[in-house]
Amino acid sequence: MKEKKILVTGGAGFIGGNFVQYMVEKYPEYDVFNLDNLTYAGDLTKHSLIEMKNNYNFIKADIVDDRLIMSIFEKEKFNYVVHFAAESHVDRSITNPGIFVQTNVIGTQVLLEAAKRVGITKFVHISTDEVYGELDFDPTTFFIEETPLKPNSPYSASKASSDLLVRAYHETYGLPINITRCSNNYGPFHFPEKLIPLTISRVLTDEKVPVYGEGQNIRDWLHVFDHCAAIDLVLHKGVNGEIYNIGGHNERTNLEVVRTIIQALGKSEELIEFVEDRLGHDKRYAIDSAKLKQLGWKPSYTFETGIIQTVQWYVENEVWWKQIINGQYLTYFNKQYSL
Ligand code: NAD
Ligand code: DAU
Repeated sequence: MKEKKILVTGGAGFIGGNFVQYMVEKYPEYDVFNLDNLTYAGDLTKHSLIEMKNNYNFIKADIVDDRLIMSIFEKEKFNYVVHFAAESHVDRSITNPGIFVQTNVIGTQVLLEAAKRVGITKFVHISTDEVYGELDFDPTTFFIEETPLKPNSPYSASKASSDLLVRAYHETYGLPINITRCSNNYGPFHFPEKLIPLTISRVLTDEKVPVYGEGQNIRDWLHVFDHCAAIDLVLHKGVNGEIYNIGGHNERTNLEVVRTIIQALGKSEELIEFVEDRLGHDKRYAIDSAKLKQLGWKPSYTFETGIIQTVQWYVENEVWWKQIINGQYLTYFNKQYSL
């Protein structure tokens, strides 16, 4: 019998997967439950190094299935919930918004209800800086926790809706919660539909890299290991009911990001292909994480060190990403891009 039971939803995905590995290694005294229904974005092969550990457990379940979720909570009586499971890709939300409402809004409410009924100690909701909308290119402006919510895509609108439900469960029922809002992550096991792993995998296979518009939109990049450490801190030290922004002040235009990767791999910039812009494309995201820093968090990677580590990881883990890009992902890619 372990000291604490922690439920991680979406633990077969990118950030949830890294968080599961981080928690299993760091807290042998906790029982870590990875709950995931293995959508196109989920895979368990990433957990081959931890799956035999006695503090790792996997449950295949859909967070929208209220009866199943309730029965799992009643059986396991989790102490902590860290909720990552979501539809996470903006482009997919533009072509197919319905599933984003189902998973991100309804799924979150189902989990909140189950958490309320069994009386958990802490529910950490993993949200995104995209709920604040976009910033202009003035480099002195940042998202703070009090910035009004103004989501622009179906994805970010569904995440903002889930944030409001989490807040409401705290205000109405006293559910102990925290909401974290992080900037763009990158690092190992990032699904190749997103800009950084898409660029690395395409450059490694000498294929064109699609850059939306003129590549001048700005994102604020954070290494996923730094995100995991931040969530660990919020889970254990976060003040009940509070929201924490997470970001490391690593703003780059998309073109800068793509050029950095091409250079790191010693390839030609002729691989860059400017393509039609994303609908409603947010100009800039930039996070002020002063509140979290006061709690004791500090990122350990700069963009320069993190991107080299990540490129190296993709070079060494070709088997993992090649099985994805050669599978059902191909159908998505060919529909999304005409390269
Ligand atoms: P991801 O798409 O890589 O993984 C999502 C996981 O959720 C997958 O394993 C998938 O199988 C699972 N899932 C989806 N629907 C489910 C359902 N109905 N029931 C159970 N499991 C389900 O996502 P990610 O990039 O790791 O993002 C994780 C969370 O972090 C999301 O909530 C996202 O909004 C948030 N976030 C992501 C970023 C980023 O840069 N990727 C930044 C800030 C916040
Ligand atoms: O800010 C946090 C968010 O970051 C998370 O909430 C989302 O889950 C996550 O997907 C990410 O959203 P973005 O839309 O910023 O990430 P993406 O990797 O899709 O795109 C990054 C930038 O690169 C964006 O400006 C669009 C651009 N882009 C993206 C793709 C996939 C391209 O130019 N070409 C592409 O092919």
